[in-house]
Amino acid sequence: MNKVATVLAYHTRSKHSLDRYAAGPGTLDWEAQPKAFRDWTGTQQIALPRDVVVSEISWSDLSDARSSAPLNIADLGSLLRLCAGLTAWKEYAGSRWSLRAHPSSGNLHPTETWLIASGVAGLEDGLYHYQNLHHALERRAWGSAAQESGLWLGFSSIHWREAWKYGERAFRYCQLDLGHVLAAVCYAASLHGWRVRLLTIDSASVANCLGLDRKADFSGVEGEEPEVIVALEAAGSSEVPPTNWQHWAGKPDLLDARPLYQWPVIEEVAQATRGAPPRADSMAVADCAHKHEGGIRAAQVILKRRSAQAFDGQSVMPNAVFRQMLTSLLPGGSPVWNMWPHTARVHPVLMVHRVEGVAPGLYAMPRSEAARASLQTAFRDTFTWQPAAPELSLFQLVCARAGKIARTLSCHQDIASQCAVTFMMVAEFAEPISSDPAAYRHLHWETGMLGHVITLVAEAAGWRGTGIGCFFDDADHEVLGLKDDHFQVIYHYAAGMALDDPRISTLPAYD
Ligand SMILES: Cc1cc2nc3c(=O)[nH]c(=O)nc-3n(C[C@H](O)[C@H](O)[C@H](O)COP(=O)(O)O)c2cc1C
Repeated sequence: MNKVATVLAYHTRSKHSLDRYAAGPGTLDWEAQPKAFRDWTGTQQIALPRDVVVSEISWSDLSDARSSAPLNIADLGSLLRLCAGLTAWKEYAGSRWSLRAHPSSGNLHPTETWLIASGVAGLEDGLYHYQNLHHALERRAWGSAAQESGLWLGFSSIHWREAWKYGERAFRYCQLDLGHVLAAVCYAASLHGWRVRLLTIDSASVANCLGLDRKADFSGVEGEEPEVIVALEAAGSSEVPPTNWQHWAGKPDLLDARPLYQWPVIEEVAQATRGAPPRADSMAVADCAHKHEGGIRAAQVILKRRSAQAFDGQSVMPNAVFRQMLTSLLPGGSPVWNMWPHTARVHPVLMVHRVEGVAPGLYAMPRSEAARASLQTAFRDTFTWQPAAPELSLFQLVCARAGKIARTLSCHQDIASQCAVTFMMVAEFAEPISSDPAAYRHLHWETGMLGHVITLVAEAAGWRGTGIGCFFDDADHEVLGLKDDHFQVIYHYAAGMALDDPRISTLPAYD
C-alpha cells in the first residue's frame, strides 16, 4: 500500500461509530499502566531552577512586545515549567496522579521533551532529556566544537503509553497532544520574549538531532517516534541544531514489561506520515497583535489550567468571553499562530448551548476565505449560512438546541452537553494528505493548538475547556452533510463553567 492509502485506511479503521468503537484493549489493568515518566539511567542529572521568572506579566499583556530573556538556565527552567513541567499532584482515595502544563488524552502523556543547548549560561552545551517529574535535565550528549548560541526544544512520542489504553486510535491522540504541547511552548516563550520557530526538517533529521536513531540505546525498550524541533529565537538560533557530540551517555528505561496487546497499524501510520512540517506560506501572519482581556497573571493561567471533568449545565458564557475565544483562533489572535504561519486548514463548527446573545444552534467558523466557499459546498445544503458575527467569520447554520446531539456525537459524554459550547474541528483532509501524507500529523497539531488556545482563553476568564478525543466520526459527518473525505472532523472541544470535585485534593507540583 502506498503512504497515502495507508494513512486513509488508518483513519477509517480508527473511527469510532455509534455501533462499534475502534479496536482497543478489551480490559485495562490500571496497575499495569506503562510508566508515565521515562528515566535515562547513567546520565548526569542537572536540577533546573524552579522559579517562574515571568510571573508578574498579566494575561492582558501577553502579546506585548518584550525584550528577549537572557539565554540562561534560570529562564530555561522557567520556560520548561510553563510548557512541559508538572503543575500539580492530585490525590483521591489513595490514588495520586500528576498534571502538566498541557492536557493529554487520558492523562497518559505520550510526549517526551528534549533540549539542545549551545551557549546557555549555566548549562554545558549538549543534548538533554527533560525529566518533568523532577524538573531536571538528563544529559544525553555533550562535547562538540564551539557553535553559535542557540536553544532548541525537540519532541518525540511514545505511542505505547497511549495505545495501552486507546488501542488503534492512539496515534491520533499522540498527534493532538503534540499540538497542545506546541501551543503551550508558544505561550511560555512569548512570556520570555522568545520567538518559536518550527524547523522544517524531516523526521529522520529530528531523530538524528535527538539521538532517537541510536538503535542500540533503545534495544529492548519502547522506541520514541521523532516529531518536531522548534528553535527558541532568543539569539538567532541557526536552522539546524548541533549534532556532532563527542560523548553519549544513558539508556532509557522500559516503560511496560508485559504489554498485553500489539497494534501494528500504529507503526504503519507512523512510518507513512514521517516527513517535514510545511514551510511558511504566503498567508504568513503578522505578530500577534490581539489584546488579551483579563488582569490575572499569565503564568497563573498556565499553571492553574485544568480540563473540566464536568460542567455545570447552566452557566451562560458572557458574549465577551465567547468573542475572545473565537478571536484568538484567527490569524494574529494568539502567539501560537506566529509559529504556525500557514493558511488555516482546520475550521471549527460550534454547537452553541449557552452563550449570551448567541442563539443556540450550529455555527461554522471558516478560518480562511477559501474554506468558507468549500465548506458551504461540502456541508448540507439546508444550512442557512446566516452571518452571525462577520468580523469573527462566524455563520449560523441551524438555529436549534444541540445539547443532546453534542452529547451523542461525543461518545455520550455529558461534558459535551453541559458545557456552554462544543466545538467540532473540521479539517481539510483528502487533498493535503494526498499531496503529503505527513500532513496527517500536521492537521492534528493545528487542531490540538486550537484546543489549547480555547482552553487558555477560557481559563483566563474563569471558564474551562476540555478536549474530547472520543467522538463518533461518521455520525459527525452525517450531521454536517459531509459525503466524502474532502473534510473530516478530527477533534471535539468543550468550553464551559467547570464543576470541581471537592473530594480530590491538590498538592504542589514540586516540593
Ligand atoms: C487529545 C485529547 C483528548 C481528550 N479526550 C477527552 C475525552 O474524550 N473526554 C474527557 O473527559 N477528557 C478528555 N481529555 C482531557 C484529558 O482527560 C485531560 O487532559 C487529562 O486527564 C489531564 O488533565 P488536565 O488536562 O486537567 O491536566 C482529552 C484531552 C486531550 C488532550
